[in-house]
Amino acid sequence: MADTTLTPPHETLLDRLSVGLTPPIAAQPVTLVIFGGAGDLAHRKLLPALYNLYVDGLMPARFAVVGVGRKDLSDDQYREFAKDGTKQFSRRPLDEDKWLSFAEGLFFVNATLQDAEAFASLGSRLDTIEHERGVPGNRIYYLAIPPAMFVPTVQNLARAKFVAPPDRGPFARLIVEKPIGHDLTSALQIDDAIAKVFGESQIYRIDHYLGKETVQNILVLRFGNSIFEPLFNQKYIDHVQITVAEDEGVGTRAGYYEQAGALRDMVQNHLLQLVSLVAMEPPRSLGAEVIRDEKLEVIRSLRPIADEAVDRQVVRSQYTRGFHMGRPVPGYREEDGVDPRSRAETFVALELLIDNWRWAGVPFFLRTGKRMPKRASEISIQLKETPPVLFNADPAARLDANVLSIRIQPDEGFSLAISSKVPGPRVRIYPVKMDFHYGSTFGNVSPEAYERLLLDVMAGDPTLFMRRDGVEAAWQWVTPILQRWALDTDSPIPGYAAGEWGPPEADRLVTSSGRRWRNP
Ligand code: BG6
Repeated sequence: MADTTLTPPHETLLDRLSVGLTPPIAAQPVTLVIFGGAGDLAHRKLLPALYNLYVDGLMPARFAVVGVGRKDLSDDQYREFAKDGTKQFSRRPLDEDKWLSFAEGLFFVNATLQDAEAFASLGSRLDTIEHERGVPGNRIYYLAIPPAMFVPTVQNLARAKFVAPPDRGPFARLIVEKPIGHDLTSALQIDDAIAKVFGESQIYRIDHYLGKETVQNILVLRFGNSIFEPLFNQKYIDHVQITVAEDEGVGTRAGYYEQAGALRDMVQNHLLQLVSLVAMEPPRSLGAEVIRDEKLEVIRSLRPIADEAVDRQVVRSQYTRGFHMGRPVPGYREEDGVDPRSRAETFVALELLIDNWRWAGVPFFLRTGKRMPKRASEISIQLKETPPVLFNADPAARLDANVLSIRIQPDEGFSLAISSKVPGPRVRIYPVKMDFHYGSTFGNVSPEAYERLLLDVMAGDPTLFMRRDGVEAAWQWVTPILQRWALDTDSPIPGYAAGEWGPPEADRLVTSSGRRWRNP
């Protein structure tokens, strides 16, 4: 596990890594139509990701990227917009020559998505672009727009006859960004409306956490090594903690966040996806459906938290004034665009149980929040303590339990905390770590999650995307919590000062059973 053990040449290492996995190949020419193409997501994530795929030689030889939005931009202005985003957010610096040839494939169409007429002119523009770029009509439609616009946009795609059935002619695929709805009912409505136009095999629901290298590595860690898997069950594991902490505040997204809050924004998707990867049974193959079936089993096995149990097992909180990188920052209710009486939670901590044979009785503690001390996401799997004999006999000096910590970000890697004797004549025991860092072993080359995910959609591989039943099962589990909170309109929401690890209530959730949070 130490970094020094892996030193084969780069190719050999990559070959070794891809054993048993299908490397994504985006061979077919394609047009990527980004609805919301001049928005924040396109600027920060999608356009830089496409540029990096291009530089890595992973884009199909013939492609076009067409941003669609209300802004009145020419193609050249859109290229400038894309360049600006890429300069700021790309993982590699922009190379002018490569940029110029990549940017030839970028276009912009001004359209109002509710307007069915606009789709007719969008259609003829797409035909022209595809003709020029030699793309035979394969299209990926990306809904990088607010969820309220999903249904009208998809209906207009159908009316304009943009979508062929999955088994006929050039392909049509749809990428849907989270959040899909704001509760189970609205998610069902959106899914039903989309299903009238696209078959399930054409739909790619993004949870970008699934595109992170470290998240993909959870399956390799569990099922590519024989040391861990036998331990992953209630016999050996005391509890699991998942922390997804952000140091940023709500920023410019108050409009969205006020309606969402941390439970919808992070727990319903990212954190439950992490839970399902840590807890799933070994799949019988690496097939997309097999893996998604196993993940779904976990979500369906979560013990529901409803009514009074919500008050005991779920803590919500909002950041108040505090400090970020030494500078004073406002509280959530003082942020631009936030209602001064807002009840949107910027932090959630909860305890969940998985009612199956493997995990019965093992608590999973989850927490996520904005304006925490740092940006750090970590999964800690804490093993049971050794029996209280031998080295662990003294109740006043208990040994630390073994912990497997998977660092999702930053400083990607994982470590195993173990007890070791301090050299010397006495038996003194000290907790040490076996530590693996992606950075020092593989170099700092991890692609961004969106690169992997866009590549997979182009290649037609749905493994890292959420299936309809998975999204709905997750909504089903969080909806009773949302309902309980919605009924309570006046009890005060606990606060935590910006720069802290959450409110004391979140500590009590864990300390009441004699455990403690592990701060990354
Ligand atoms: C998004 C949420 O899905 O994930 C944001 O909407 C959050 O609120 C972001 O900031 C975190 O992603 P990452 O990759 O920075 O951990």
